[in-house]
Amino acid sequence: MRIGILTSGGDCPGINATIRGVCKTAMNYYGMEVVGIHSGFQGLLTNDVEFFTEKTISGLLNQGGTILGTSREKPFKKKGVPPGVNKPAIMEENIHKLGLDCVVCIGGNGTQKTALKMAAMGLNVVSVPKTIDNDIWGTDFSFGFDTAVSIATDAIDRLHSTASSHKRVMVIEVMGHKAGWIALYSGMAGGGDVILIPEIKYDIRNVGETIMTRLKKGKPYSIVVVAEGIETDGNKRAAEYIAHEIERETGIESRQTVLGYIQRGGSPTPFDRNLSTRMGGHATELIANGQFGRMITLQGNEISSLPLSEVAGKLKMVTEDHDLVVQGRHMGVCFG
Ligand code: F6P
Repeated sequence: MRIGILTSGGDCPGINATIRGVCKTAMNYYGMEVVGIHSGFQGLLTNDVEFFTEKTISGLLNQGGTILGTSREKPFKKKGVPPGVNKPAIMEENIHKLGLDCVVCIGGNGTQKTALKMAAMGLNVVSVPKTIDNDIWGTDFSFGFDTAVSIATDAIDRLHSTASSHKRVMVIEVMGHKAGWIALYSGMAGGGDVILIPEIKYDIRNVGETIMTRLKKGKPYSIVVVAEGIETDGNKRAAEYIAHEIERETGIESRQTVLGYIQRGGSPTPFDRNLSTRMGGHATELIANGQFGRMITLQGNEISSLPLSEVAGKLKMVTEDHDLVVQGRHMGVCFG
């Protein structure tokens, strides 16, 4: 068999480990040929590919980013496409010309939606969920998330000393797109006093009250972790807006940090490396068994898969009954 592999959407640590998991299993165990497709779905449109060898995929396990490059190309999007250009047909033609028996699509929500549409055209695809946001339905975790949480937690740990030295409120903004998973997990791991996520509506007066109560208890500083997607005045970034509002509400000096793309850089954690390896290997197993149109999942501690029709386009959001929210509330963490 000959398979294609592409990486699409925002990059994150673990993509290269997943490429390694797919390709080493395919080449070493199943004797498959592997074609690397550059820059996500764009590479399928421009036929920008390379035949993988053992050498191509060595040294990938701990390497951040993606050796294939990525893009946010959405081949089924009609807006802005010149008349007469049929991107899905071009993709299909290139897949047949390359003699690909299947395309492994590594990506986030957009990628899952594109993969489902490719499957609906009768093209063989298997997808692997990838995003630091952890907002893909059907899988307990996506690789990239643990590494982003680890980076954010280290940053939060570092903010405690400067906050206490200056008796300030430090507000840190983490990524997560529309979901609050990174803020929740890193906020709880980093001992945040206030954690604001898009899924839980907040009232800045409650935030102010929490900070003032800490002050009265002899803790004249606070750590506030905010997800980038929370509601603001629509002009400022989340951290800037919340720091400003806290200073207005409490009179306590507040500063903000936006962690940004650091959360998507560098080497994956061991958890993400092994999750990538497990998911990559399982994707290849599905292909060898002729099972297409599915997304690999982690359910509990088991690697499995679900039909793309069940997961594509559905976001997994934090719920108020999540254990970290419940336990955090019991311990006095303010969720707004
Ligand atoms: O989906 C991953 C992510 O990092 C989000 O957390 C963030 O909102 C978005 O990508 C940033 O997109 P871009 O890389 O296109 O700036």
